[in-house]
Amino acid sequence: MASCLFFFLLLATTLTTFTTSRPHVPKPKGLVIKLIHSDHAIVPKYFQPEAKAKLEPTNYYSGPLLFINFQIGQPPVQQFAVMDTGSNLLWVDCAGCRQCRRRAINRAIYDPSHSSTYTSIQCDDQRCIDISANGECSPTGQCFYNKRNYARGSMSSGLIATEQLTFGPIHEGIAEEITVVSGMVFGCSSDSQSLPDSKFNGIFGLSNRSYTISAFGSKFSYCIGDITDKDYGYNLLILGEEANFEGFTTPIDIQYSGHYYLSLQSVTVGNSNTYINPNGMWSKSAVMDTGTSGLWLVSGLYTEFRIKIVAFMEDLGLNSTTDESRKLCYHGNFTTEPVNSQLTNVHTIASLHFANGADLDLEVKSLFYNTNKGTFCLDVNPSITEEVTIIGLRAQQSYNVGYDLIGRMLYLQFRECAALFP
Ligand SMILES: *[C@@H]1O[C@H](CO)[C@@H](O)[C@H](O)[C@H]1NC(C)=O
Ligand SMILES: *[C@@H]1O[C@H](CO)[C@@H](O)[C@H](O)[C@H]1NC(C)=O
Ligand SMILES: *[C@@H]1O[C@H](CO)[C@@H](O)[C@H](O)[C@H]1NC(C)=O
Repeated sequence: MASCLFFFLLLATTLTTFTTSRPHVPKPKGLVIKLIHSDHAIVPKYFQPEAKAKLEPTNYYSGPLLFINFQIGQPPVQQFAVMDTGSNLLWVDCAGCRQCRRRAINRAIYDPSHSSTYTSIQCDDQRCIDISANGECSPTGQCFYNKRNYARGSMSSGLIATEQLTFGPIHEGIAEEITVVSGMVFGCSSDSQSLPDSKFNGIFGLSNRSYTISAFGSKFSYCIGDITDKDYGYNLLILGEEANFEGFTTPIDIQYSGHYYLSLQSVTVGNSNTYINPNGMWSKSAVMDTGTSGLWLVSGLYTEFRIKIVAFMEDLGLNSTTDESRKLCYHGNFTTEPVNSQLTNVHTIASLHFANGADLDLEVKSLFYNTNKGTFCLDVNPSITEEVTIIGLRAQQSYNVGYDLIGRMLYLQFRECAALFP
């Protein structure tokens, strides 16, 4: 299985370009991308080993993320970027980048001055105005961007430009078809920062205002089968018309930021009698954000939710043990005995109920992670803002999530992602 993990399955099999010199070439119908787990063995091959210097202490758990692999430029340079529905820009670290602490190895550092397909964008270009709302400009009149405080506290700034992206296999010697997308708008980061353990080259923004979406139309979907197993091979993203729409629907409220807001009506824990209704106590606004692992509940909801989880687990005979970071933890590993038996008859621990009756059912793996200290802990945290609940990757496991940006509708289907593979 591992040997076929990185082959991108292509629905659009022809070489495609968007350059204006070849206007007759249609947009690709779609692109199916096998997502790569941030802890998968292939990833360290493109990054320097961790520095000996002591890492910054972190008082929160930064869980797994999913990467989109592609090559940028000509000659192409291999990149791993975080799939992030919570931001609107694709950016990658560029050669000479200051404070790039992720330290990609040489062959994974993209240098625009060595690429024949790099084209800069001027400040008065509409694409620049779309991206930097405040119309920032470099001293040489080139489009400048500056992003802060997102995706694990990272920041990035640099020039907006266009490049050729190549989606295809990263193993040598095996003939697989590739899809080339020309003229993709991206950020060439000259200054970026994130946590020291973040082994990725950049962020692949998928919010409503991103060019990564519009290059393929106005639809996309992903199926997140499992992020607890780094070798699980069926997490996938589909961009374009071939996106998978099935299951229950709930309206998406797309605001200026391009974020995907849903209306969270109520939450249940355990049997459906333990409803947590807003009653003016908490905001119903929830945003879908694959750029973070955890579930971040607005504080009123968080407090209630945690109390009900404790009671639910106690009913199963599981006593909590709070670790030093005040996380809610339990002894054992939820995938092995004896905990596994105690949870055997529990499919859904909690559910998020959205407008129009769409539910997101949360299993044990959607809420908890196994630590390396023989415990498993709740990856649900109080949201940093009072206004919005943030639904990260973990809670979206076992679901296919479809985004129809014209119809402004989100599709939620509990499903086996492996079945989506031909
Ligand atoms: C979201 O994307 C769709 C499809 O590209 C577009 O028609 C719509 O104007 C966008 N909405 C916002 C608020 O940007
Ligand atoms: C859990 O706590 C209860 C009450 O304190 C106690 O009776 C029970 O033995 C504990 N169970 C385990 C597995 O430690
Ligand atoms: C939990 O158990 C599974 C199955 O035996 C194992 O693969 C995994 O490594 C364990 N997790 C931890 C953090 O020890």
